[in-house]
Amino acid sequence: MRNLDETTITQEVLARNVGTRDRRLHQIITGLVQHLHAFAREVQLTEQEWEKGIEFLTSVGQICSPVRQEFILLSDILGLSTLVIAQNHRKPDGCTEATVFGPFHVADAPFIESGADLSKNLPGTPWFVRGTVRGLSGEVVPHAVLEVWQADDQGYYDVQKPGLDAYEGRGILRADAQGHFHFRTIVPEAYPIPHDGPVGNLLAALERHPWRPAHLHFMVSAEGYERLVTHVFKEGGEYLDSDTVFGVRTSLIAEWVKHEAGIAPDGTQCDEPFCTLDFDFVLKPSEPD
Ligand code: BEZ
Ligand code: FE
Repeated sequence: MRNLDETTITQEVLARNVGTRDRRLHQIITGLVQHLHAFAREVQLTEQEWEKGIEFLTSVGQICSPVRQEFILLSDILGLSTLVIAQNHRKPDGCTEATVFGPFHVADAPFIESGADLSKNLPGTPWFVRGTVRGLSGEVVPHAVLEVWQADDQGYYDVQKPGLDAYEGRGILRADAQGHFHFRTIVPEAYPIPHDGPVGNLLAALERHPWRPAHLHFMVSAEGYERLVTHVFKEGGEYLDSDTVFGVRTSLIAEWVKHEAGIAPDGTQCDEPFCTLDFDFVLKPSEPD
């Protein structure tokens, strides 16, 4: 078809794509074209703005590397990540809610023994974390695998530190036969998402801050249950109501209880003030295939 104009271009693009045998691809591209065209019409996009948008997406791609995923950050600050998680993890009341994955998980974190220090001696306030993994009917989930990762007391993840030669602030542990897990670490601080690139520039132009409230990441897996990717946030922490990636859920906020020096929950003597966290996870049964 020739002589396409403002009123005919959308239908022609949609018609050109009908031949694909991949029905899901067809559905996704059809929706994308319809919404993109509607967006350009709604805001009456100028050529300069179109070019600026292309330059922005190009710079987002150019800064990506094996340790920097700027497109995920973009999705996070636009709320797309939270939307996709919410619509893919609808759960019955009582299940632990999921939240954003973030860019700082690594696949090859070290295994740690129950009770071990996953901070690997990072400086900071000692933190004793424990809980139980259960199913929706209260049944114990034995031997769940918990991957845990966190920022340090300055708000940095190990992978953000130049010259890192061993992981710190992350580990993989197994709950026992009664679903109990426990480990020690240090209390993490709030931190800004990486904002020295195009996503940071966009946040600045939008006059938004780049901060996330203090949290501890968990990924909990057990046979017969949906994998849970979530955080536990600090009650009373800063940014709980303005998390730049929209990840906070009330059910994931817990008290990080302060204690004076003394006997820690693992029975050891702690010569400085410390904190404790008790947090139980409730997993959703996986759908039968
Ligand atoms: C994080 O919590 O690690 C995170 C999540 C989204 C964007 C940046 C960081
Ligand atoms: Fe994080």
